[in-house]
Amino acid sequence: MTDRFNLNLANPLLSNLGNLMQRLAPALRQDNVPLDLISLIKTILAATKEISFRVSQGHLGDVMGSTLDENIQGEVQKQLDVVANELFKDILLESGFVKAISSEEEDHSVAGDENGKYIVSFDPLDGSSNIDINSLIGTIFSIHEAPKDMAAGDDDMFKQSGNKQVCAGYVLYGPSTMLVMTTGSGTHFYVLDRTHGGFLLVERNVQVPVDTNEFAINMSNQRFWQAPMQNYIADLIAGDTGPREKNFNMRWIAAMVGDIHRVLCRGGIFTYPADSKKPEQPYKLRLMYEANPMAFLLEQAGGLAMTSQGRIMDIEPESIHQRVEVIMGSKNEVEKCLSYYK
Ligand code: AHG
Ligand code: MN
Ligand code: MN
Repeated sequence: MTDRFNLNLANPLLSNLGNLMQRLAPALRQDNVPLDLISLIKTILAATKEISFRVSQGHLGDVMGSTLDENIQGEVQKQLDVVANELFKDILLESGFVKAISSEEEDHSVAGDENGKYIVSFDPLDGSSNIDINSLIGTIFSIHEAPKDMAAGDDDMFKQSGNKQVCAGYVLYGPSTMLVMTTGSGTHFYVLDRTHGGFLLVERNVQVPVDTNEFAINMSNQRFWQAPMQNYIADLIAGDTGPREKNFNMRWIAAMVGDIHRVLCRGGIFTYPADSKKPEQPYKLRLMYEANPMAFLLEQAGGLAMTSQGRIMDIEPESIHQRVEVIMGSKNEVEKCLSYYK
């Protein structure tokens, strides 16, 4: 029997791990991704590698704790929210590849190069409440082509539906740093190999199982949900003695990146439904840099990404920080949930 703790680094299978797996750029060329989009993706990833390093330094990296500021959405900004945002902004705006960027942490879009072919929306740090407890956090990004007839810095440039994304992805700063990305030819998993400093393809064409017995929702909001979601969740919790006749498990990471990553790995339903907690704000998650990129990744992996009214990626955005209801994950389970709204 092999001792699984006795890693023999002389073993060619382990020492050559990097050689066996495809690097990012050749993997993207195989999917016929245009060269300037590959360059933009590499620029984004340069920023995430820097964030990954700083996150791994924890208290030693001087990025913990809160700032004294709030973002435009009234949320207290953590140091790392600000640091990650500045890193992204600087590196993207200097690159010449982007006409403008839009970030959770910026009130308005920021102009880049007038000749830039793309625009990027991003959540520099998703799961901010996990920063100070050394738990899962990530970065989410969404890329569209830049409209030629608008000036850089015009927020209207970003009012394009999720259907028009040319690339979407997230980087998860977990026990390993992972990139999950799609350019419309399937959803692929990559891992940051710290020995050579690049991302290596570890799983091509991830598929979300169509059925599941796992759900993710913030149960503390239960009394604020609408009746259909109350009824759906009540039936899940009733387990094998209820109408679903099977037991369900619940998970909530409080970072959409972590929850969606679990759904991509082993299936599940993830929802942040409409609630009446703050009547002026019925939804929590943001369309441009949370819901749309995750919707693209899930649909490319055979999953569904909906609101109770229709497909997330069909929504024509009205503003860059628009919030939206989210019901996404394993196909059959999302359809089951939506049937309660009919
Ligand atoms: P962010 O940290 O970028 O503000 O996003 C947090 C979001 C999302 O990642 C997560 O699923 C959700 O907020 C958690 O909400 P609760 O605090 O209600 O659990
Ligand atoms: Mn977020
Ligand atoms: Mn964030």
